[in-house]
Amino acid sequence: MSMIRSVVRGVGAYLPAHTLTNADLAQMVDTSDDWIVQRTGIRERHIAAEGEVTSDLALNAARAALADAGLEPGDIDLIVLATSTPDNTFPATAVSVQAGLGITHGAAFDVQAVCSGFVFALATADNFLKSGSFKRALVIGAETFSRILDWSDRTTCVLFGDGAGALVLEAVPATGAADEPGIMTTHLRSDGRHKNKLYVDGGVSSTKTTGFLRMEGREVFRYAVGMITDVIEDAFAATGVTAQSLDWFVPHQANRRIIDASANKLGIAAEKVVVTVDHHGNTSAASIPLALASAHADGRIKRGDIVLLEAMGGGFTWGSALIRW
Ligand code: UT7
Repeated sequence: MSMIRSVVRGVGAYLPAHTLTNADLAQMVDTSDDWIVQRTGIRERHIAAEGEVTSDLALNAARAALADAGLEPGDIDLIVLATSTPDNTFPATAVSVQAGLGITHGAAFDVQAVCSGFVFALATADNFLKSGSFKRALVIGAETFSRILDWSDRTTCVLFGDGAGALVLEAVPATGAADEPGIMTTHLRSDGRHKNKLYVDGGVSSTKTTGFLRMEGREVFRYAVGMITDVIEDAFAATGVTAQSLDWFVPHQANRRIIDASANKLGIAAEKVVVTVDHHGNTSAASIPLALASAHADGRIKRGDIVLLEAMGGGFTWGSALIRW
Protein backbone atom coordinates (compact mmCIF):
# COMPACT_ATOMS: atom_id res chain seq x y z
CA MET A 1 0.00 0.00 0.00
CA SER A 2 1.58 3.24 -1.18
CA MET A 3 2.04 5.86 1.49
CA ILE A 4 3.12 8.65 -0.84
CA ARG A 5 0.99 11.18 -2.72
CA SER A 6 2.07 13.32 -5.68
CA VAL A 7 1.24 16.89 -4.76
CA VAL A 8 1.05 19.79 -7.25
CA ARG A 9 3.61 22.42 -6.26
CA GLY A 10 3.53 24.73 -9.28
CA VAL A 11 2.05 25.36 -12.71
CA GLY A 12 3.44 27.23 -15.68
CA ALA A 13 2.61 27.93 -19.31
CA TYR A 14 4.07 29.39 -22.44
CA LEU A 15 2.42 30.52 -25.66
CA PRO A 16 4.34 31.69 -28.73
CA ALA A 17 3.94 35.43 -29.36
CA HIS A 18 2.26 35.21 -32.76
CA THR A 19 -1.53 34.72 -32.86
CA LEU A 20 -3.36 33.55 -35.95
CA THR A 21 -7.03 34.58 -36.03
CA ASN A 22 -9.94 33.00 -37.87
CA ALA A 23 -9.94 36.05 -40.14
CA ASP A 24 -6.29 35.34 -40.99
CA LEU A 25 -7.21 31.74 -41.86
CA ALA A 26 -10.08 32.91 -44.08
CA GLN A 27 -7.38 34.57 -46.23
CA MET A 28 -5.55 31.24 -46.56
CA VAL A 29 -8.32 28.61 -47.13
CA ASP A 30 -12.04 28.54 -47.95
CA THR A 31 -13.37 29.06 -44.41
CA SER A 32 -14.96 31.74 -42.24
CA ASP A 33 -14.87 33.02 -38.67
CA ASP A 34 -18.55 32.02 -38.38
CA TRP A 35 -17.94 28.39 -39.39
CA ILE A 36 -14.93 27.96 -37.09
CA VAL A 37 -16.60 29.60 -34.07
CA GLN A 38 -19.88 27.71 -34.51
CA ARG A 39 -18.34 24.27 -35.10
CA THR A 40 -15.39 24.50 -32.67
CA GLY A 41 -15.53 27.61 -30.45
CA ILE A 42 -12.02 28.56 -31.62
CA ARG A 43 -11.29 32.26 -32.29
CA GLU A 44 -7.50 32.34 -32.38
CA ARG A 45 -4.45 30.14 -31.81
CA HIS A 46 -0.73 30.78 -31.22
CA ILE A 47 1.90 29.74 -33.78
CA ALA A 48 5.57 29.15 -32.98
CA ALA A 49 8.05 31.48 -34.68
CA GLU A 50 10.46 30.26 -37.34
CA GLY A 51 13.18 28.34 -35.50
CA GLU A 52 11.19 28.14 -32.25
CA VAL A 53 10.97 24.42 -31.44
CA THR A 54 8.92 22.31 -29.03
CA SER A 55 11.68 22.19 -26.40
CA ASP A 56 11.87 26.02 -26.42
CA LEU A 57 8.17 26.19 -25.58
CA ALA A 58 8.55 23.43 -22.98
CA LEU A 59 11.55 25.08 -21.34
CA ASN A 60 9.67 28.37 -20.90
CA ALA A 61 6.68 26.55 -19.38
CA ALA A 62 8.98 24.52 -17.11
CA ARG A 63 10.75 27.67 -15.85
CA ALA A 64 7.37 29.29 -15.13
CA ALA A 65 6.20 26.19 -13.21
CA LEU A 66 9.43 26.10 -11.15
CA ALA A 67 9.06 29.81 -10.33
CA ASP A 68 5.44 29.21 -9.29
CA ALA A 69 6.60 26.34 -7.05
CA GLY A 70 9.46 28.37 -5.57
CA LEU A 71 11.87 25.59 -6.59
CA GLU A 72 15.20 25.45 -8.42
CA PRO A 73 15.90 23.21 -11.44
CA GLY A 74 18.23 21.15 -9.25
CA ASP A 75 15.24 20.15 -7.09
CA ILE A 76 13.79 18.17 -10.04
CA ASP A 77 14.87 14.55 -10.60
CA LEU A 78 12.25 13.45 -13.16
CA ILE A 79 11.00 15.07 -16.37
CA VAL A 80 8.16 13.43 -18.28
CA LEU A 81 7.30 15.37 -21.42
CA ALA A 82 4.26 14.61 -23.56
CA THR A 83 4.53 15.53 -27.22
CA SER A 84 3.74 14.25 -30.71
CA THR A 85 5.84 17.00 -32.28
CA PRO A 86 9.35 16.40 -30.88
CA ASP A 87 12.31 18.59 -31.92
CA ASN A 88 13.95 15.51 -33.46
CA THR A 89 13.07 11.85 -33.88
CA PHE A 90 15.55 11.32 -31.07
CA PRO A 91 16.80 12.16 -28.50
CA ALA A 92 13.68 12.83 -26.48
CA THR A 93 12.61 16.47 -26.28
CA ALA A 94 12.64 16.00 -22.49
CA VAL A 95 16.46 15.74 -22.45
CA SER A 96 16.73 19.10 -24.26
CA VAL A 97 14.57 20.59 -21.52
CA GLN A 98 16.71 18.85 -18.89
CA ALA A 99 19.89 20.28 -20.44
CA GLY A 100 18.28 23.72 -20.85
CA LEU A 101 17.50 23.73 -17.13
CA GLY A 102 21.04 22.60 -16.30
CA ILE A 103 19.87 19.38 -14.64
CA THR A 104 22.40 16.51 -14.79
CA HIS A 105 20.85 14.02 -12.38
CA GLY A 106 17.69 11.91 -12.49
CA ALA A 107 15.83 10.94 -15.67
CA ALA A 108 14.03 12.66 -18.55
CA PHE A 109 11.95 11.03 -21.27
CA ASP A 110 9.02 11.64 -23.63
CA VAL A 111 5.56 10.09 -23.67
CA GLN A 112 3.52 9.97 -26.87
CA ALA A 113 -0.26 9.60 -26.62
CA VAL A 114 -1.20 12.54 -28.87
CA CYS A 115 -3.95 14.70 -27.30
CA SER A 116 -4.11 12.40 -24.24
CA GLY A 117 -0.36 12.77 -23.75
CA PHE A 118 -0.51 15.03 -20.73
CA VAL A 119 -2.81 12.68 -18.78
CA PHE A 120 -0.55 9.73 -19.72
CA ALA A 121 2.55 11.70 -18.63
CA LEU A 122 0.89 12.73 -15.37
CA ALA A 123 -0.08 9.13 -14.57
CA THR A 124 3.47 7.98 -15.39
CA ALA A 125 5.10 10.58 -13.14
CA ASP A 126 2.56 9.92 -10.37
CA ASN A 127 3.39 6.22 -10.36
CA PHE A 128 7.15 6.87 -10.26
CA LEU A 129 6.73 9.31 -7.36
CA LYS A 130 4.39 6.99 -5.44
CA SER A 131 6.84 4.10 -5.87
CA GLY A 132 9.59 6.19 -4.28
CA SER A 133 11.81 6.16 -7.41
CA PHE A 134 11.91 9.97 -7.71
CA LYS A 135 11.18 12.94 -5.47
CA ARG A 136 10.08 15.84 -7.70
CA ALA A 137 8.83 15.75 -11.27
CA LEU A 138 8.20 18.20 -14.04
CA VAL A 139 5.28 16.97 -16.13
CA ILE A 140 5.14 18.88 -19.40
CA GLY A 141 2.84 18.97 -22.41
CA ALA A 142 4.43 20.79 -25.36
CA GLU A 143 3.50 20.89 -29.03
CA THR A 144 4.20 22.62 -32.33
CA PHE A 145 1.30 21.15 -34.31
CA SER A 146 1.67 24.02 -36.80
CA ARG A 147 4.61 22.02 -38.21
CA ILE A 148 2.48 18.96 -39.09
CA LEU A 149 -0.57 20.77 -40.46
CA ASP A 150 -1.44 20.74 -44.13
CA TRP A 151 -2.13 24.47 -44.43
CA SER A 152 -4.18 23.85 -47.59
CA ASP A 153 -6.62 21.48 -45.78
CA ARG A 154 -9.39 23.57 -44.22
CA THR A 155 -10.79 20.56 -42.35
CA THR A 156 -7.71 20.38 -40.09
CA CYS A 157 -5.60 23.56 -40.30
CA VAL A 158 -8.19 25.71 -38.52
CA LEU A 159 -8.28 23.46 -35.47
CA PHE A 160 -4.81 23.35 -33.94
CA GLY A 161 -2.27 25.64 -32.27
CA ASP A 162 1.12 25.63 -30.53
CA GLY A 163 1.97 25.97 -26.84
CA ALA A 164 3.29 24.34 -23.69
CA GLY A 165 2.27 23.87 -20.07
CA ALA A 166 3.98 22.26 -17.09
CA LEU A 167 3.24 21.03 -13.57
CA VAL A 168 5.71 20.44 -10.75
CA LEU A 169 4.77 17.39 -8.68
CA GLU A 170 6.37 16.49 -5.36
CA ALA A 171 6.28 13.14 -3.54
CA VAL A 172 4.84 13.79 -0.07
CA PRO A 173 4.21 11.20 2.67
CA ALA A 174 0.48 10.42 2.75
CA THR A 175 -1.41 11.16 5.94
CA GLY A 176 -4.56 9.22 5.10
CA ALA A 177 -6.70 12.31 5.76
CA ALA A 178 -9.76 12.57 3.52
CA ASP A 179 -8.83 16.05 2.36
CA GLU A 180 -5.08 15.58 1.82
CA PRO A 181 -3.73 17.16 -1.36
CA GLY A 182 -2.35 15.28 -4.35
CA ILE A 183 -3.30 13.10 -7.28
CA MET A 184 -6.27 10.98 -6.19
CA THR A 185 -6.58 8.66 -9.19
CA THR A 186 -5.64 8.28 -12.87
CA HIS A 187 -7.26 6.11 -15.57
CA LEU A 188 -5.70 5.46 -18.98
CA ARG A 189 -7.23 3.72 -21.99
CA SER A 190 -6.32 3.00 -25.64
CA ASP A 191 -7.95 1.21 -28.56
CA GLY A 192 -5.70 0.89 -31.62
CA ARG A 193 -8.53 -0.26 -33.86
CA HIS A 194 -9.19 3.46 -34.36
CA LYS A 195 -5.61 4.38 -35.30
CA ASN A 196 -6.50 5.47 -38.84
CA LYS A 197 -9.15 8.01 -37.80
CA LEU A 198 -6.57 10.54 -36.56
CA TYR A 199 -2.96 10.10 -37.63
CA VAL A 200 0.05 11.64 -39.36
CA ASP A 201 0.62 10.30 -42.88
CA GLY A 202 4.40 10.03 -42.53
CA GLY A 203 7.03 8.71 -40.19
CA VAL A 204 10.58 7.54 -39.74
CA SER A 205 9.99 3.86 -40.42
CA SER A 206 7.28 4.18 -43.05
CA THR A 207 7.88 7.14 -45.38
CA LYS A 208 11.07 8.62 -43.87
CA THR A 209 9.22 11.96 -43.89
CA THR A 210 7.43 13.90 -41.15
CA GLY A 211 4.01 13.80 -42.81
CA PHE A 212 0.85 15.78 -42.19
CA LEU A 213 -2.02 15.40 -39.74
CA ARG A 214 -5.09 13.65 -41.19
CA MET A 215 -8.38 13.32 -39.36
CA GLU A 216 -11.87 11.96 -39.94
CA GLY A 217 -13.26 14.73 -37.74
CA ARG A 218 -16.84 13.52 -37.70
CA GLU A 219 -15.73 9.99 -36.70
CA VAL A 220 -13.53 11.29 -33.87
CA PHE A 221 -16.40 13.47 -32.70
CA ARG A 222 -18.75 10.44 -32.73
CA TYR A 223 -16.59 8.54 -30.23
CA ALA A 224 -15.26 11.43 -28.13
CA VAL A 225 -18.08 12.14 -25.68
CA GLY A 226 -18.71 8.45 -24.85
CA MET A 227 -15.02 7.70 -24.25
CA ILE A 228 -14.52 10.86 -22.18
CA THR A 229 -17.53 10.27 -19.97
CA ASP A 230 -16.69 6.53 -19.46
CA VAL A 231 -13.21 7.25 -18.15
CA ILE A 232 -14.52 10.04 -15.92
CA GLU A 233 -17.12 7.67 -14.47
CA ASP A 234 -14.15 5.37 -13.65
CA ALA A 235 -12.46 8.24 -11.77
CA PHE A 236 -15.68 9.03 -9.89
CA ALA A 237 -16.19 5.34 -8.97
CA ALA A 238 -12.59 5.02 -7.70
CA THR A 239 -12.80 8.05 -5.40
CA GLY A 240 -16.42 8.76 -4.53
CA VAL A 241 -16.07 12.23 -6.08
CA THR A 242 -19.19 13.31 -7.98
CA ALA A 243 -20.08 15.92 -10.60
CA GLN A 244 -21.56 17.91 -7.73
CA SER A 245 -18.61 17.61 -5.32
CA LEU A 246 -15.81 18.44 -7.75
CA ASP A 247 -14.71 22.06 -8.05
CA TRP A 248 -13.20 22.31 -11.54
CA PHE A 249 -13.41 20.37 -14.78
CA VAL A 250 -10.33 21.01 -16.95
CA PRO A 251 -10.89 19.01 -20.15
CA HIS A 252 -8.68 18.64 -23.20
CA GLN A 253 -9.48 21.62 -25.40
CA ALA A 254 -10.32 20.20 -28.84
CA ASN A 255 -13.78 21.51 -29.53
CA ARG A 256 -16.21 23.56 -27.44
CA ARG A 257 -19.10 21.32 -28.52
CA ILE A 258 -17.34 18.19 -27.20
CA ILE A 259 -16.51 19.96 -23.91
CA ASP A 260 -20.09 21.17 -23.42
CA ALA A 261 -21.63 17.81 -24.38
CA SER A 262 -19.32 15.92 -21.99
CA ALA A 263 -20.01 18.28 -19.08
CA ASN A 264 -23.71 18.13 -19.81
CA LYS A 265 -23.82 14.31 -19.94
CA LEU A 266 -21.94 14.09 -16.62
CA GLY A 267 -24.07 16.78 -14.95
CA ILE A 268 -21.10 19.11 -14.36
CA ALA A 269 -22.26 22.72 -13.99
CA ALA A 270 -21.09 25.05 -16.78
CA GLU A 271 -19.43 27.46 -14.31
CA LYS A 272 -17.06 24.67 -13.18
CA VAL A 273 -15.70 24.10 -16.70
CA VAL A 274 -12.38 25.74 -17.65
CA VAL A 275 -12.38 26.68 -21.34
CA THR A 276 -9.38 28.02 -23.26
CA VAL A 277 -10.05 26.52 -26.69
CA ASP A 278 -11.33 29.92 -27.88
CA HIS A 279 -7.86 31.47 -27.48
CA HIS A 280 -5.54 28.46 -27.88
CA GLY A 281 -7.24 26.14 -30.38
CA ASN A 282 -6.37 22.47 -29.91
CA THR A 283 -2.78 22.33 -28.62
CA SER A 284 -2.89 18.53 -28.20
CA ALA A 285 -0.80 17.44 -25.16
CA ALA A 286 -0.33 21.07 -24.09
CA SER A 287 -4.01 21.94 -23.81
CA ILE A 288 -4.70 20.68 -20.28
CA PRO A 289 -1.65 22.21 -18.55
CA LEU A 290 -2.28 25.48 -20.46
CA ALA A 291 -5.87 25.50 -19.18
CA LEU A 292 -4.72 24.58 -15.65
CA ALA A 293 -2.16 27.38 -15.71
CA SER A 294 -4.75 29.93 -16.77
CA ALA A 295 -7.27 28.90 -14.05
CA HIS A 296 -4.48 28.77 -11.44
CA ALA A 297 -3.04 32.17 -12.42
CA ASP A 298 -6.40 33.97 -12.27
CA GLY A 299 -7.19 32.46 -8.86
CA ARG A 300 -10.05 30.18 -9.89
CA ILE A 301 -8.30 26.95 -8.79
CA LYS A 302 -7.41 27.23 -5.10
CA ARG A 303 -5.68 24.97 -2.58
CA GLY A 304 -8.00 22.15 -1.53
CA ASP A 305 -10.10 22.25 -4.71
CA ILE A 306 -10.88 18.97 -6.50
CA VAL A 307 -9.85 19.23 -10.16
CA LEU A 308 -10.90 16.76 -12.85
CA LEU A 309 -8.76 16.36 -15.98
CA GLU A 310 -9.76 14.45 -19.11
CA ALA A 311 -8.42 13.93 -22.62
CA MET A 312 -9.16 11.91 -25.75
CA GLY A 313 -7.16 11.77 -28.97
CA GLY A 314 -5.30 9.85 -31.66
CA GLY A 315 -4.91 6.11 -31.21
CA PHE A 316 -7.56 6.35 -29.87
CA THR A 317 -6.17 7.11 -26.45
CA TRP A 318 -8.15 8.58 -23.59
CA GLY A 319 -7.77 9.14 -19.88
CA SER A 320 -8.80 10.99 -16.74
CA ALA A 321 -7.19 12.22 -13.54
CA LEU A 322 -8.56 13.64 -10.30
CA ILE A 323 -6.34 15.95 -8.26
CA ARG A 324 -6.91 17.61 -4.92
CA TRP A 325 -5.04 20.88 -5.40
O1 UT7 B 1 -7.92 16.46 -30.07
C1 UT7 B 1 -8.06 15.26 -30.73
C2 UT7 B 1 -9.44 14.94 -31.00
N1 UT7 B 1 -9.97 15.67 -32.11
C3 UT7 B 1 -11.20 16.13 -32.02
O2 UT7 B 1 -11.78 16.04 -30.98
C4 UT7 B 1 -11.87 16.68 -33.25
C5 UT7 B 1 -13.22 16.05 -33.33
N2 UT7 B 1 -14.01 16.54 -34.45
C6 UT7 B 1 -14.47 17.81 -34.50
O3 UT7 B 1 -14.21 18.62 -33.63
C7 UT7 B 1 -15.41 18.16 -35.64
O4 UT7 B 1 -15.77 16.98 -36.32
C8 UT7 B 1 -14.82 19.17 -36.63
C9 UT7 B 1 -14.71 20.52 -35.96
C10 UT7 B 1 -13.46 18.69 -37.10
C11 UT7 B 1 -15.76 19.32 -37.82
O5 UT7 B 1 -17.07 19.68 -37.40
P1 UT7 B 1 -18.33 18.88 -37.96
O6 UT7 B 1 -19.51 19.53 -37.39
O7 UT7 B 1 -18.10 17.42 -37.65
O8 UT7 B 1 -18.27 19.19 -39.50
P2 UT7 B 1 -18.13 18.18 -40.72
O9 UT7 B 1 -16.79 17.55 -40.75
O10 UT7 B 1 -19.32 17.29 -40.71
O11 UT7 B 1 -18.23 19.18 -41.94
C12 UT7 B 1 -19.42 19.93 -42.23
C13 UT7 B 1 -19.22 20.74 -43.49
C14 UT7 B 1 -18.64 19.93 -44.64
O12 UT7 B 1 -19.24 20.38 -45.82
P3 UT7 B 1 -20.43 19.53 -46.50
O13 UT7 B 1 -19.84 18.16 -46.77
O14 UT7 B 1 -21.53 19.48 -45.48
O15 UT7 B 1 -20.75 20.33 -47.71
C15 UT7 B 1 -17.18 20.32 -44.66
O16 UT7 B 1 -16.60 20.22 -45.94
O17 UT7 B 1 -18.28 21.79 -43.23
C16 UT7 B 1 -17.25 21.76 -44.22
N3 UT7 B 1 -16.01 22.22 -43.63
C17 UT7 B 1 -15.68 23.53 -43.53
N4 UT7 B 1 -16.31 24.64 -43.93
C18 UT7 B 1 -15.72 25.83 -43.67
C19 UT7 B 1 -15.01 21.49 -43.04
N5 UT7 B 1 -14.05 22.31 -42.59
C20 UT7 B 1 -14.45 23.56 -42.88
C21 UT7 B 1 -13.87 24.83 -42.64
N6 UT7 B 1 -14.55 25.93 -43.04
N7 UT7 B 1 -12.69 24.99 -41.99
